[in-house]
Amino acid sequence: MAEARLASAAAEDGVHAVAHTVGRAPVGAPGAPTPAGDPGVSAARTPAGDPGRSAAPTIAEALTAARSLLEAAGCASPRLDAELLLAEVLGVGRERLLLDAGRPLGEADRDRFWSLVARRRRREPVAYILGRRHFRALTLAVDRRALIPRPESELLVEVGLELPTGASVIDVGTGSGAIALALFSERPDLIVGACDVSAGAIALARENARDLRAPIRLWVADLLKDAPALARARGPGADAVLANLPYVPLGDRLMPDVGCYEPALALRGGGDGLDVIRRLIASCAQSAWPSLLALEIDPRQAQTVAGLLADAGFAQVQLRRDLASRERVVVGRRGAALSWGCGPRPAGDGRSRVDERPPGHERPQGDERSACHGRPARAGGVRDERRKSRSQGVAGMSGASHDPRGWPA
Ligand SMILES: C[S@@+](CC[C@H](N)C(=O)[O-])C[C@H]1O[C@@H](n2cnc3c(N)ncnc32)[C@H](O)[C@@H]1O
Repeated sequence: MAEARLASAAAEDGVHAVAHTVGRAPVGAPGAPTPAGDPGVSAARTPAGDPGRSAAPTIAEALTAARSLLEAAGCASPRLDAELLLAEVLGVGRERLLLDAGRPLGEADRDRFWSLVARRRRREPVAYILGRRHFRALTLAVDRRALIPRPESELLVEVGLELPTGASVIDVGTGSGAIALALFSERPDLIVGACDVSAGAIALARENARDLRAPIRLWVADLLKDAPALARARGPGADAVLANLPYVPLGDRLMPDVGCYEPALALRGGGDGLDVIRRLIASCAQSAWPSLLALEIDPRQAQTVAGLLADAGFAQVQLRRDLASRERVVVGRRGAALSWGCGPRPAGDGRSRVDERPPGHERPQGDERSACHGRPARAGGVRDERRKSRSQGVAGMSGASHDPRGWPA
């Protein structure tokens, strides 16, 4: 019975070698010895009377057992998680697990694997367990000092990629530094700075900047406090502000992976989720800069935030959708940004833009600027842009010729 279950799970996994383990108690089988680190996880044992068989579970058996434990714990992608954790323990890529499916796991590897599985069973995010996360072309160190960067935040990076040559940009609420560091790597001509109210997050962002040899300016601040003075010292000021600030409404329930592990300061934005975003927009309303403000939001907040930007004097407001077609970023433009057009992009990046101007807001003939920017949100003319593919034009980080002193000190 157990063998059949194991074989069928393995076949489902595309792992065939495990089907030859007839006679061996499967990893995780009731009654099997418990490995160190997790009393709920059982190890394989040597079948009586068969000294020729190895006591160690194979890679496929360990993965099968881990997967069912993670599934039972409510993890959303148990198979992937198990593979990532085992690949980490063995120091190999996930594809190697498939090739070596029948290889027995050594005791030390097995114990380490179960201890990582135990952490994941308690719903600790895989990125925190591994200590890293990929974001665009970068691999960033992540830990509980900052939010784990999400793919939807790439939309903010894409807004930054459209800035004119030499523009300065501040990533407010930078966390691990993901958005600022991605921009630095892909657009070395930009002057990139980043701040966060959390000293721990800035310390992590600094570690990432050092590891990536990206000497961007990072500072601890409440929103744009001190930034205007910094910008004035430089001259023209910050042309753009990109911000993924906390926006989860108070009443929203969070998955344990998020709510129990990621910093509340990075997530919760008060009653309707917009407390911090409102403060940022209000501070921009009292100043002539930035000329472009882009905010990541929950899709339910899109119209409200578009209205706040319009009220704050941003003459043109756009909504941008993620790959699931949800409105995830609001972009406000005013002053100089109105003449930037759609901005430069890395050559040959192959991205397409879909203009989904609502009825009544058709693109005026011969007016490229209007074609790139919609009407204020309140007028119902918010323009949607759907990104169909990701940017390809990534410059090497270490080869970037960026002068860190270009940013005001
Ligand atoms: C949703 S996380 C985004 C982190 C990072 N930008 C990313 O996309 O992965 C929000 C970040 O905003 C920071 N934050 C919260 N309130 C802030 C404030 N008043 N001023 C500056 N940063 C703030 C948090 O510490 C957190 O790092």
